[in-house]
Amino acid sequence: GSDSGGGKSSLNAELPQKIRDAGVIKVGTDAAYKPMEYKEGGDIVGLDPDLADAMGKELGVRFEFSNGTFDGLITSMQTGRFDMIMSSMTDTKDRQEGLDDKGKKAGKGVDFVDYLTAGSSILVKKGNPEKIDSVGQMCGKKVATQRGTTSHEILKKQTAQCAKDGKKKIGIEAYDNDDEARVRLKAGGVVADISDFPVAAHAAKSGSDFEVVGDQMESAPYGIAVRKDQKKLRNALKSALEKIKEDGAYDKALEKWGVQ
Ligand code: ARG
Repeated sequence: GSDSGGGKSSLNAELPQKIRDAGVIKVGTDAAYKPMEYKEGGDIVGLDPDLADAMGKELGVRFEFSNGTFDGLITSMQTGRFDMIMSSMTDTKDRQEGLDDKGKKAGKGVDFVDYLTAGSSILVKKGNPEKIDSVGQMCGKKVATQRGTTSHEILKKQTAQCAKDGKKKIGIEAYDNDDEARVRLKAGGVVADISDFPVAAHAAKSGSDFEVVGDQMESAPYGIAVRKDQKKLRNALKSALEKIKEDGAYDKALEKWGVQ
């Protein structure tokens, strides 16, 4: 709900001309990550859309979110389907450099504007029936997570460690989205779901099915991702983010969604 590229805001001039003309920045996200981004009716809502809205007011453009599979977001952006990704995406070196999970060059890589910090957490059934509080205790057990995430990476590293220690591997079940992983946990098919802390904490608070156990793992910045040839867009987003941090809109959004 902001003015559409009328150039009334001072930061509008920092945007690439194409975006100024369109008045819209297209955003790719995986909207199954409540409270960060999720679907409500036909809309994509949550902390990320609210932060984008606030930045849009500064930039004099509208952000238009569309839904995709998390593991395919970077590839979709590289092909031009959208201008940026805002999807609780952790700013990692692999993503910056376009490396696959074996450290091999697999794509062009992306630039990030960091905007929040979070790590991965372990979500289990209420009462913690398996008495788990770390990934080190998951050797030989089935665990769900979302494909292509940093949580998935943590599990892959741990299962290699299990093998080294002469223990059984983790039965990693990787799902296209985290809602599916949580359904699997609720049904008792896995002993845990590994996802980002804000999402696990929200699931634990929202009913009596789940609880979060253990410490956050590998806390790191979330970044808005843009193509490497979009330096101008990146810098404009950076300025808008600084602005909403200064004027309190950023803190207000975090507070609204219960995220620190
Ligand atoms: N922060 C994690 C990562 O970057 C998980 C993000 C998942 N986001 C989502 N919208 N499902 O790998």
